[in-house]
Amino acid sequence: MGHDPAVSVLSVNGDGPRDAALAAFEALAASRRTSLRVDRDREVPSELIDRLCAVAQWAPNHHKTWPLRFAAFTGEGRYRLGRAIADALAASGVDDTAKLEKFRVKYGRSPVVLVVGSAPGDSPKRTAENRDGAAAGVQNLLLAATAAGLASFWSSGAEPADAVVSEMCHWEQGTTMVAVIYLGWPVAEVPAPERPAPRIVHVGA
Ligand SMILES: Cc1cc2nc3c(=O)[nH]c(=O)nc-3n(C[C@H](O)[C@H](O)[C@H](O)COP(=O)(O)O)c2cc1C
Repeated sequence: MGHDPAVSVLSVNGDGPRDAALAAFEALAASRRTSLRVDRDREVPSELIDRLCAVAQWAPNHHKTWPLRFAAFTGEGRYRLGRAIADALAASGVDDTAKLEKFRVKYGRSPVVLVVGSAPGDSPKRTAENRDGAAAGVQNLLLAATAAGLASFWSSGAEPADAVVSEMCHWEQGTTMVAVIYLGWPVAEVPAPERPAPRIVHVGA
């Protein structure tokens, strides 16, 4: 169902300047797309990547455990990542050669591949909360990338290879893979998948 941010904002709050800020944020959130339509040869400055990671750190975090871990793969590093994942998958029993070959090259599709992990907590509950907070950080990062004009694509890792990737990134043991994010400058737009209306229950006094 379509949703017009500008209309709903005005009906919620008529106080002027804050409406404009909310409308701008709604438009930003709605314009973020999962897209790999990027210029694979146009560099993304590492300072910009650092800045996006810093925005992720502003996500909520229970017990201030700061679980987010980042590793930015560029240049030949993207192919080292792909080979390491393909080798780990093969070692885990995957024998689909076409799939393994795809992993060896697929991270070259964007100039930056940002791998995001979440450090373990000292209990299963805290490990789960760390991951929730880390996912909130990823969304901060994606929205900041959108604001900077970058296209982004949140992809899942390849679970049997998580330990190998974590070691490659020099992360502590038990760090879980939250996202493998392709980042690059867009060369085309992609259509927005429709969203259903939010399912909300309002409970009064
Ligand atoms: C945890 C997570 C993992 C995802 N992994 C993949 C993936 O492996 N491949 C993929 O095509 N999209 C992946 N996506 C992106 C979704 O497919 C995408 O968000 C959805 O199609 C809606 O499109 P939009 O983000 O442009 O609104 C993932 C999203 C999340 C939150």
